[in-house]
Amino acid sequence: MNPQPAVLETATLPIELLPFNSVCLMSNHTVKACLRTVEQGYRPAECTTQTARVPTRVRDLRDMRNNVPMTSASAFPRVSRRIGAIAESATLAVDAKAKALKAAGRPVVGFGAGEPDFPTPAYIVEVAKAACENPANHRYTPAAGLPEMKDAIVAKTLRDSGYAIDASQVLVTNGGKQAVYQAFATIVDPGDEVLLPAPYWTTYPEAVALAGGVSVEVVADETQNYLVSVEQLEAARTPKTKVLLFCSPSNPTGSVYSPEQVKAIGEWALEHGIWVIADEIYEHLLYDGATAPSMPVVVPELADRCIILNGVAKTYAMTGWRVGWMIGPKDVIKAATNLQSHLSSNVNNVAQRAAIAALNGDLTAVDEMKVAFDRRRKLMVSMLNEIPGVVCPTPQGAFYVYPSVKGLLGKEIRGKVCNTSTELAALILDEAEVAVVPGEAFGPSSYIRLSYALGDADLVEGVTRIQKLLSEAK
Ligand SMILES: Cc1ncc(COP(=O)(O)O)c(C=O)c1O
Repeated sequence: MNPQPAVLETATLPIELLPFNSVCLMSNHTVKACLRTVEQGYRPAECTTQTARVPTRVRDLRDMRNNVPMTSASAFPRVSRRIGAIAESATLAVDAKAKALKAAGRPVVGFGAGEPDFPTPAYIVEVAKAACENPANHRYTPAAGLPEMKDAIVAKTLRDSGYAIDASQVLVTNGGKQAVYQAFATIVDPGDEVLLPAPYWTTYPEAVALAGGVSVEVVADETQNYLVSVEQLEAARTPKTKVLLFCSPSNPTGSVYSPEQVKAIGEWALEHGIWVIADEIYEHLLYDGATAPSMPVVVPELADRCIILNGVAKTYAMTGWRVGWMIGPKDVIKAATNLQSHLSSNVNNVAQRAAIAALNGDLTAVDEMKVAFDRRRKLMVSMLNEIPGVVCPTPQGAFYVYPSVKGLLGKEIRGKVCNTSTELAALILDEAEVAVVPGEAFGPSSYIRLSYALGDADLVEGVTRIQKLLSEAK
């Protein structure tokens, strides 16, 4: 028996697969598809075309290449539909635009960045420097991560979350972002539905789509502090619901679910056999005494259907080092490791060594950053709430504020009427030279996201400019 062609993602690849053991008429387009299919290792049985009888052997099909008249304009899209459908990261785009304007000499204040404005602590950098000198770090290492790194993650997870895991449940990834992609790729099949509390981090729906899944947005607005309820999740649940994405503290809103809410949502997921992908990357950036318990600790029976995503980027000001990880049931981590072994292999050893130092060290650095973030958070929220038409809830985590700008849409500002937050963000950049990310990047329109991971003076300057501009609305 030939292998079944179903192993190809026929729904997403722009090729037409030929039925096995059947006779068909092939257009030029189909001959090309047939060639490509065979070159990928599949052997369609004999087929006929109006011009030629096509044999099954790869060599013969290849020989046909020059004999079959091909149209000059290819019927295939240059970029596959699957990849062509991925949008640029809006947050990175805003940040890049602000940096480009700054480089061109414009006095732009950027609130787009999703990274601490502090350097990585010196003791971590020193470990990396030494690691460069060690030839052991110049070699390939296990795809799942250095054993010492996995041990450090096991110890850190117990220390910070009270969650006891085994090293075989850990996969070290190139940043939390790769963990996000691999988590969805590993457990989502085409057509599976993923509940996505909105506003959501801009990468989630792209990762879901790449896995062939369907994102189902569950919207929570500013009146509920951007936190979805069990009732809302239940209303969105269908027989196809496989996964819930859960992010607390949240990017983009900074909202934090209470321990009671985490428990209620975890128990609901458990009751309905729904997987939870819990993104804990902002776990240490909490204010006002808020706590963000890990869901499988609050609902231990959920552990067999829960994947935790995390990384060193936000806690240790290590965004550029690209070290994250996923924690999950052994079989899922094994499968994700297989994927990563073909995708990127091991994470850079020097960065892993630095991350080990970070995880094995204490939390002094993040505590110091938090003092500054907390001060800026309060200042920014109060300044934004002074603007008529802006409603800014006080976030309890991460380093973002997420005001509603509904009260400004449809009004005239410097001769322009903005009907969406994308238009308003463009106006703010043009008129005030301040970069913010529009709500459309995170789901519903009518919001803007501002990061307060920038210096106090810049923060005051930028928000003052926004105040001045938006107060002109009439
Ligand atoms: C919610 C969330 N998860 C994951 C990540 C990934 O972080 P990194 O890939 O830098 O480790 C980010 C980065 O902005 C984030 O905001």
